[in-house]
Amino acid sequence: MKRIFSGVQPTGALHLGNYLGAIRNFVDLQHEAEAIYCIVDLHAITVWQEPSALGPNTREVAAAYLAAGIDPKKSIIFNQSRVSAHAELAWIFNCVARIGWLNRMTQFKEKAGKHREQASAGLYIYPALMAADILAYKATHVPVGDDQKQHLEFARNTAQKFNYDYRGGDENGVFPLPEPIIMGAAARVMSLRDGSKKMSKSDTSDMTRINLSDDRDTIADKIKRARTDPDMLPGPDVLDESGDLPEHTRKSRPECFNLLGIYAALANESWREVLQRFEGQGFGGFKPQLAELAVEKLGPMGQEMTRLRNDPAEIDRILADGADRAAEIAQPVLKEAKQAVGFLLD
Ligand code: TYM
Repeated sequence: MKRIFSGVQPTGALHLGNYLGAIRNFVDLQHEAEAIYCIVDLHAITVWQEPSALGPNTREVAAAYLAAGIDPKKSIIFNQSRVSAHAELAWIFNCVARIGWLNRMTQFKEKAGKHREQASAGLYIYPALMAADILAYKATHVPVGDDQKQHLEFARNTAQKFNYDYRGGDENGVFPLPEPIIMGAAARVMSLRDGSKKMSKSDTSDMTRINLSDDRDTIADKIKRARTDPDMLPGPDVLDESGDLPEHTRKSRPECFNLLGIYAALANESWREVLQRFEGQGFGGFKPQLAELAVEKLGPMGQEMTRLRNDPAEIDRILADGADRAAEIAQPVLKEAKQAVGFLLD
């Protein structure tokens, strides 16, 4: 059975990368299979979160889910800390996963930076909790942006090792091996100021990202001031035979292909269509069209988020209901895992 799971951290303003790389795909996928969308507050506290901000930030992600079009009756929306199965299964996975695997995680290296010794232990074992999120629901498919690929590989390895250690193999294993779903031209949205860095909540400059809460003028201004290069926009001859953009081509003009990729994703067009449309034009003509499209697509969502922000009780009700439904699925899976490990249970 196909089951979708994904999560977003409540660590501050959501941006265009979160939307195009992940949340937008959550909406489409909810029609294909049972879908569970989590707000991962346990993950958020792996780096310091001001306690008074964590609740509002959690509601903000819920508002984005709802405003993007996730239907809380059809899909499950909840915050992670409410369902204790996540933390319990994560502990078991901490004992299954290997330190060597954790040491290869590039996200830890990036986030811990030079101050590795000062990073929380939680930041280090973050991937085991993420594996638990997914596998507590026996989810088979996980829509994420490109930056989560390695964490998904970690979850697959953990599931496989658990199945092997406790059940002797995959066929009668407890857990499925979850597949990432990484979609489209905007699976990796880059900073508007530096095409070699990903668009991120934690970048100190707000001009590097388009926030889902930005108003019309701010969006237009950020796109106008986005970094570009002096050349004209390329045509479809830069694509490979299957219509994809080769990595070396993207890297040769990172800012240019970032903006074109954003356009393609917002317009729901292929690379070929977008490159055909803008071939030979300058950024001066392209940027206003991109700004207009971004405002048209993000504006209504921003308005809906504002409306929901004024109704926190409605969001809290949805999260509580979602947590009950999530726990109903996760508890029996946790029990199965505990039994496989050999714990004495009721
Ligand atoms: P987080 O909160 O950093 O990001 C949420 C989602 O947004 C995607 N994303 C991007 N996509 C394209 N371009 C970008 N610049 C960009 N920035 C972020 C991320 O890939 C992600 O899909 N570890 C996860 C949260 C998590 C999770 C899970 C995800 C915890 N448990 C279980 C899936 C399944 C994270 O930090 O996402």
